Amino acid sequence: MTPVKTRFTTEDDITAEVERRFAGTPDPRLREIMLSLTRHIHAFVKDVRLVEGEWWKAVEFLTATGQMCSDKRQEFILLSDTMGVSMLVDLISNGKPAGATESTVFGPFYREGGPELPEGGNVAEGAEGGTPCIVTGRVLDMQGKPIAGATLDVWQADPDGLYDSQRPGLEELQMRGIFHTGDDGRYTIRTTRPVHYQIPTDGPVGRMLAATNRHPWRPAHIHFKVTAEGYSPLTTHLFDKVDEYLDSDAVFGVKDSLICDFPLHETRDAAAIRFGIEPPFCTCQYDFVLSPAS
Ligand code: BEZ
Ligand code: FE
Repeated sequence: MTPVKTRFTTEDDITAEVERRFAGTPDPRLREIMLSLTRHIHAFVKDVRLVEGEWWKAVEFLTATGQMCSDKRQEFILLSDTMGVSMLVDLISNGKPAGATESTVFGPFYREGGPELPEGGNVAEGAEGGTPCIVTGRVLDMQGKPIAGATLDVWQADPDGLYDSQRPGLEELQMRGIFHTGDDGRYTIRTTRPVHYQIPTDGPVGRMLAATNRHPWRPAHIHFKVTAEGYSPLTTHLFDKVDEYLDSDAVFGVKDSLICDFPLHETRDAAAIRFGIEPPFCTCQYDFVLSPAS
């Protein structure tokens, strides 16, 4: 008697059969990704012995994450950021040669179309409060030569720790600016001292952080996208050295090389005269080093 063909009934049978079905994917990279994804998801489900009620909770969580997304809010990026996946992808994609400025997480708050500002232009125009801050430095190549005409696209949370897109009713862009280096590679930006702030907690990612006893704070930072023809684009932050959340950033974005001093100037010193600014204010000095385009 011929034996009855067995179906895929055991846990390992099902994993093997799903892999077999993806094995014919024509694109080799997609095949590699689908096979590995299958193995890891199945291993995870078996490892935690996931039951139906928990699977439903996961479906509801991912559904809510999608429903929270809009043109102003990207909850999936936030999920990726808080799971450390964004930083893993950044490390894999943007490994820079030694000596080049390191990149970090892009985040969900970048907006195209920031205003073009002259040297010394004020990113914080229209924002209230905060300590004025002058950020200066150069954009250099790997040999230390200044790069003229490099573009610095800058964005930052306001002194209340909110990005413009988080302010209900505020349609225009705030705390943003685009600068270009001069022939000597120099840039000068006026802004306010960055403050630490909470990533959005009013959605499923916030619920996940609360349920796992994790805080939602990011250490004070300024975002930069630095580009120049012939060089690899750089997306990074400058962090304030005294911030209490440097060692526990909710999205794992801190790298030692990006931590800067923001000294406070309390008198009409040489910097106050040079930048035409009344104390108290702070300064930050940083040279960005770009690697050649690959
Ligand atoms: C940010 O720095 O803007 C950011 C990055 C990741 C998640 C949330 C905010
Ligand atoms: Fe930020």
